[in-house]
Amino acid sequence: MKDASPQTIHLKDYTPFGFEAESVELTFRLAPTATRVLSKIRFLPKEGGDGRFFLHGEDLTLISARIDGAPVTPRLVEGGLEAQVPAEPFIWEAEVEISPATNTALEGLYMSPLAREGEAPGPGAMYCTQCEAEGFRKITFYPDRPDVMSVFTVRIEGDAPVMLSNGNPVERGDGFAVWHDPWRKPAYLFALVAGDLRAHPGSFTTMSGKEVALNIWVRPGPDEDKCAFGMEALKRSMTWDEEVYGREYDLDVFNIVAVDDFNMGAMENKGLNVFNSSCVLASPETSTDMNFERIEAIIAHEYFHNWTGNRITCRDWFQLCLKEGLTVFRDAQFTADMRSAPVKRISDVIALRARQFREDNGPLAHPVRPESFVEINNFYTATVYEKGAELIGMLKTLVGDAAYAKALDLYFERHDGDAATIEDWLKVFEDVTGRDLAQFKRWYAQAGTPRLSVTEDFKDGTYTLHFKQETPPTPGQPHKAPFVIPIAVGLLNPNGDEVVPTRVLEMTQAEQSFSFDGLPSKPVPSILRDFSAPVILERASDNTERAFLLAHDTDPFNKWEAGRALAKDVLCRMVSEGATPDGAYLDAALAVLRDDGLDPAFRALALRLPSEDDIAQTLFGAGITPDPVEIHTARETLSQALAQHAADTLPRIYAAMTVEGPYRPEAEDAGKRDLQGTVLGLLSRIDGGAQAAAQYDAAGNMTQQLAALSCLLMIDKGEPELARFYEQWKDDRLVIDKWFGMQALQAPPARAAAVTDALTRHPDFDFRNPNRFRATLGSFAANAAGFHAADGAGYRLLADWLIRLDPLNPQTTARMTTSFETWKRYDADRQALIEGELRRILNTDGLSRDTTEMVSRILG
Ligand code: PHE
Ligand code: ZN
Repeated sequence: MKDASPQTIHLKDYTPFGFEAESVELTFRLAPTATRVLSKIRFLPKEGGDGRFFLHGEDLTLISARIDGAPVTPRLVEGGLEAQVPAEPFIWEAEVEISPATNTALEGLYMSPLAREGEAPGPGAMYCTQCEAEGFRKITFYPDRPDVMSVFTVRIEGDAPVMLSNGNPVERGDGFAVWHDPWRKPAYLFALVAGDLRAHPGSFTTMSGKEVALNIWVRPGPDEDKCAFGMEALKRSMTWDEEVYGREYDLDVFNIVAVDDFNMGAMENKGLNVFNSSCVLASPETSTDMNFERIEAIIAHEYFHNWTGNRITCRDWFQLCLKEGLTVFRDAQFTADMRSAPVKRISDVIALRARQFREDNGPLAHPVRPESFVEINNFYTATVYEKGAELIGMLKTLVGDAAYAKALDLYFERHDGDAATIEDWLKVFEDVTGRDLAQFKRWYAQAGTPRLSVTEDFKDGTYTLHFKQETPPTPGQPHKAPFVIPIAVGLLNPNGDEVVPTRVLEMTQAEQSFSFDGLPSKPVPSILRDFSAPVILERASDNTERAFLLAHDTDPFNKWEAGRALAKDVLCRMVSEGATPDGAYLDAALAVLRDDGLDPAFRALALRLPSEDDIAQTLFGAGITPDPVEIHTARETLSQALAQHAADTLPRIYAAMTVEGPYRPEAEDAGKRDLQGTVLGLLSRIDGGAQAAAQYDAAGNMTQQLAALSCLLMIDKGEPELARFYEQWKDDRLVIDKWFGMQALQAPPARAAAVTDALTRHPDFDFRNPNRFRATLGSFAANAAGFHAADGAGYRLLADWLIRLDPLNPQTTARMTTSFETWKRYDADRQALIEGELRRILNTDGLSRDTTEMVSRILG
């Protein structure tokens, strides 16, 4: 039933389904290789529908079907079935058989841990589902599209001690459980979990006084002690959504399940969130500060989907950013409130540039709302998620906080229960503010990162900024119309005082100037404060001015940005002109390191050098062909120079950042540990790793243990520590993922492919587990100089593994092809090597639709 010839789906072809699904009753008779799924659905023909009754279905064995109780023989067609149906409301019933135990794609109903090939699943294996985006069609025949919403009742039959589905529990008996979800929902939000699970319980009283039972479900054993932080994060999220967005939870129970085999981070199924165990389980001994922060954010993200995604869902998958952009924006606001807003913003911009700008400036560039796709799984991208969130932020900046709040209230009021569109979303803002958002809408339709260049002049007390915007062509979009760009600007006096506080300039033309009057002297501008728009700012500036802004800017983002620009400039000149480490940079960095008035987390961010990939992207943007090995060398050289320059200061800061008392994952402590880890990295370059080895031995938490090990690997030491680490943690798969990951990521470039190849032969390397696959091959591809080794060994290694994984798990394979998306940046030899590997992948017999689409797009 799999598509023979992949079809392109277009936004413009949207047509509603001709029937309403009034209610859905499902019965699951669970068995590893022969689960029976019985469905009973009441359909109502819709006015104006064409009467064509098509249900999606994939990898299903149809046992029987009935309409209004009478057996029928539907026509099996590509991707589903068709049947002759009455013009009146009718009951559709079907029984199908599926095989969860052999489902390695991790879409539809599957079992985790995956059984060894040809063997039965282990006794601890659990049943689990993943339906977004189009996985429900692997469970039963159904109109598997988000605009078909229905009320689900689910009966699960089996011998599992715990059997869960969406909504509220209705009945539990010997060998069965019944769940009912009163909220209409699309099938992609369906979930079922069954297995031997233990609950970490909690409870929450909502703002209107309703009691909600909360549970985090894990397999019996050590995971049971790793739920407390997630539970607290969930409660914080529930409180925050009430306080900030006025959104209350709407069921009696909220369940979270941790599963080891999962393609993504987590999934917002109604009342039954399913999490990749790496995104929910945490303990001080096994999780880093970064893990804690990420877990808190993902729990919030999935919880916030209950309103932005579930109560208001998407009409079709082109509208994916409607729920994802908004929910990412909301979880970022949450993290900013729980922790440090500037630190969160800076970290998000680093990630945006690393993933979204990279995507937007390569062959995979696509609009935040794409207009066509072959496989929707390939569009869960940084553009849809992270750029989607930036668009919400810009909208909020343009209309102001009060209007944003009003618009959101109207959105919830007007569209609760709807499958909505971007047009609906923008309309609430237009209705609340009276603004015309037609030009703003281009942000959703045009791909590519705008270049915003700026020049200035000063005359008779008037300072003028001249802006010019230009967006490069992207696939299928040769010409771009100008965007509306909110440019937050502040002006500083040459003595460092702010003379004009932040003001938002609204640029709507291709070229536009803005003036500031009454200034005593020519100011220093701080442009694009708080990164007010996802653009590349181009300004001829010198390192004196950058150092000035790093020292004086009142906007924390731009303060950091000035340091970043300085470091980038220095590194780019080291690579392209063979320059030596710049003294102005070293002095500025040392001043930040020493400035005890600054938040340690901020100092850590300011001292971190831009990534090798970031430098490669910057060089390429400046018309220079980047050499990954030279970039690596330059970055190492600059770090070494900074270490020497700061040598006298490092021990003091290291000691000062020691956190007393028991480990707490809170931002304040985490920030100190972060700076201490950064300092340890510098120290290791001058003390041969003595301090790092000592920290490794003394570490009482994973943050410090891992930081120490990473420092040792960085200076090509740490062999014994790596072995001890493995011995200590060999029974904890999430920690062992880190063990795989850091070796692949930090292997010296010349050995990286060999080290990674050896890791794939380790008995603990199960390539079918997405976490382990990503930890190993994904980390290797992030080892820029190693992956891009001139002999092409890195490219070959990754291609070999993608070809192997594709038949088992197309979704994760396709996602990881993005390691090749930057290939056009590099020299002809490397391009030829990569192209060879891409063609080898593409020519593989039976290559999945997912991977075929991605590789074809990358090849262009
Ligand atoms: N909707 C999920 C989220 O953003 C992501 C996801 C997509 C998970 C597809 C699984 C499959 O939270
Ligand atoms: Zn999401």
